[in-house]
Amino acid sequence: MAAIGKDITTAKGLLESGELVGIPTETVYGLAGNAFDPDAVAKIFAVKDRPSFDPLIIHTASLHQVSDFTTHIPDSLFLLAKKYWPGPLTLLLERKPNISDLVTSGLDTVAVRVPQHPLALSLLASLDFPLAAPSANPFGYISPTQADHVNAQLGDKIPYILDGGDCKVGLESTIVGMENGQVTVYRLGGLDIDAIESVVGRVVVKTHSSSNPKSPGMLKSHYAPKKPFVLGNLKELVNSCISEKKTFAVLSFKKHFAEIPETQQLDLSPTGDLDEAAKNLFAAMRALDSMDVSVILAELLPEEGLGRAINDRLRRAAADNKQGLHHSS
Ligand code: TXA
Ligand code: MG
Repeated sequence: MAAIGKDITTAKGLLESGELVGIPTETVYGLAGNAFDPDAVAKIFAVKDRPSFDPLIIHTASLHQVSDFTTHIPDSLFLLAKKYWPGPLTLLLERKPNISDLVTSGLDTVAVRVPQHPLALSLLASLDFPLAAPSANPFGYISPTQADHVNAQLGDKIPYILDGGDCKVGLESTIVGMENGQVTVYRLGGLDIDAIESVVGRVVVKTHSSSNPKSPGMLKSHYAPKKPFVLGNLKELVNSCISEKKTFAVLSFKKHFAEIPETQQLDLSPTGDLDEAAKNLFAAMRALDSMDVSVILAELLPEEGLGRAINDRLRRAAADNKQGLHHSS
């Protein structure tokens, strides 16, 4: 297992010698390495078991540092960065040659963000290189929102995890770039569309995977638990599991089922707060995934605010179970 602590000097030393470190951000934990060191970047892909066609996000301490490795920032994206960095926003910008093909999977753009977490920001400010950091989970699984999540899955492959507590946002960053002169959103995330449109006006949302070469990592079955995960009308799904004598657990929103044991239901936000639901989502999916049941049942949340990004993750988690409940389990 990795050592877990709050020691920035330890993290800095390891990163400077080409090692990887688990780092906290406000969205999810990252698996960080020196973005200018091709060996460290290669290690990231190996540790995550990530295909090389899925590019990484580069993290820096401030907007000023972005020009170290990008050619320019379009005006609209600059306005977004000014307003929302540090924060759950990733920008796709034209890269300079000092960013290797490995980081960008050969694309001309590089994904960049300034995370809003005091430990991550102090660490970044202490380094003289930016950090490449994908979410610190094995490829395709649910992203980690606690240091323990990172340790449980990648702990035997990395020396250190910087512990910054529970991630405050709980969903990955929103990915935004320019396409045909229009601000385009490639991944829904912790910064909602209304917040973006309040700065740059109407945006194009293009988050569908296979038809979207710009975000090759947005595969449908991302964020998937190992157990069958079924989306639908919760009440109906519950009734049908009960009548078929299936064991199940429920991921709900603002709902409680008197007929189900407490231990088998997790409510993302009893008060109906979408930000709270986002913060709880991945930890809840992990907890349900480790329960001794044959299927996880869930339903979509309201399509507003962070509800849109939450629903995106729920749909992806369920993407392998198109047959619904009758998928063998
Ligand atoms: O919140 C986050 O963004 C977290 C924390 C650690 O910062 N990171 C994260 O990284 O979610 P990852 O690797 O799990 O997701 C990065 C996504 C992938 O879907 C990838 O395809 C996309 O960013 N991406 C990276 N570079 C890109 C590029 N140049 N063009 C299009 N998509 C890109
Ligand atoms: Mg990821």
